[in-house]
Amino acid sequence: MSDGINLLSAKWGKRCLIATDRVGPWILSASVRGVKVLVTGGAGYIGSVTATALEQAGHVPVILDSLISGPEAFVANRIFYHGDIANRQLLGQIVADHPDIECTIHMAARVVVTESVTMPYVYYRDNVTKSLELFDQLARLGRPRVVFSSSASVYAEVEGFEVYEDSPTDPRSPYARTKRMMEMVLQDLAAATDIRCVILRYFNPIGADPELRYGIHAREPSHVLGQLVLAAQGRREAFLVTGTDYPTRDGTGLRDYVHVWDLALAHVRAVERFDQVLAAVGEPSVILNLGTGRGVTVRELVDMVGRVLGQPVPVTEAPRRPGDATGAYANVDRARQLLGWTAQSSLADGVASAFSWAAKRREVLGYE
Ligand SMILES: NC(=O)c1ccc[n+]([C@@H]2O[C@H](COP(=O)([O-])OP(=O)(O)OC[C@H]3O[C@@H](n4cnc5c(N)ncnc54)[C@H](O)[C@@H]3O)[C@@H](O)[C@H]2O)c1
Repeated sequence: MSDGINLLSAKWGKRCLIATDRVGPWILSASVRGVKVLVTGGAGYIGSVTATALEQAGHVPVILDSLISGPEAFVANRIFYHGDIANRQLLGQIVADHPDIECTIHMAARVVVTESVTMPYVYYRDNVTKSLELFDQLARLGRPRVVFSSSASVYAEVEGFEVYEDSPTDPRSPYARTKRMMEMVLQDLAAATDIRCVILRYFNPIGADPELRYGIHAREPSHVLGQLVLAAQGRREAFLVTGTDYPTRDGTGLRDYVHVWDLALAHVRAVERFDQVLAAVGEPSVILNLGTGRGVTVRELVDMVGRVLGQPVPVTEAPRRPGDATGAYANVDRARQLLGWTAQSSLADGVASAFSWAAKRREVLGYE
């Protein structure tokens, strides 16, 4: 384990002691070396990689997933509960079975932006209402530490494209609005109840775990690198660059691509330092950007893919799609200071990892 576990800060430790009669004993002995962590959505892309990083650091992930999108293959050999995050009875059972769960990483969500536009009810029900049930039940069960998966898609466009955690927000899809809503819900719960939260705003995860056991599982990945993989594999005639008149250095959209393994390691830090992070900011909740701090345009990404593969990917250009944003990259000072974390992998590493996984995933998933 990286730097030992000390989930108990003096400040929150005292508060825990006072609060135990209301929410149950949830203090972790300072001498405990590994912790049990409930990972909702742990059968998904980021969840399965995060579970791997937790295991490597000496912790034990307990997965809760309904498998509405995550594949069963991703929970093999793990403690796994098949069910919905809003199933209070099941959560009670999980905590009864694992009374040493110290923290929850809440990743379970519906995640397809375009689908959220056509199915808003389903997205608000699953990402908002069900998360509310989960948080309330966690508090009742005396498990108030929550690490929440949020998204860079909550940010408004800003000049210069670098966003800080307090930059303005303007979520542009129902999906992004569910993320922003849950951030606000968590902040309100943290202010009023025992819930404590570390909200992680991921930028654009790419790649797979180092052993190539977990990666993107969507059959038709909708994000940029997924589309590039399909074009490079010849399953698309060409990669479509949508929008070449954005106010960026080459006119194409800009993103901050962060290796999913780096993201996973940030979660390990968030769990291990949970109480210290909140004590350091003096608040019951905090938001942290998780990106590389570097913006990469679509053309730059296409070039990198060509370099990694040793041959160019066929490209065609089209106008912007309605609703697409120019993009942003993360200011990562806060994550560096509070988690002691920075992304280590290069863009080339992430791209190479994504292509290695694409070549391997049929073995794991049974489909290309
Ligand atoms: N992948 C990205 O680009 C990205 C970017 C920013 C934030 N995020 C956030 O990260 C988290 C994980 O995303 P991902 O890309 O791994 O998606 P994913 O679809 O691979 O994983 C989500 C998992 O949640 C499960 N799930 C969904 N609803 C559930 C419910 N009600 N009960 C139990 N399980 C449920 C699914 O079966 C799936 O295994 C999500 O919260 C997402 O919003 C993802």
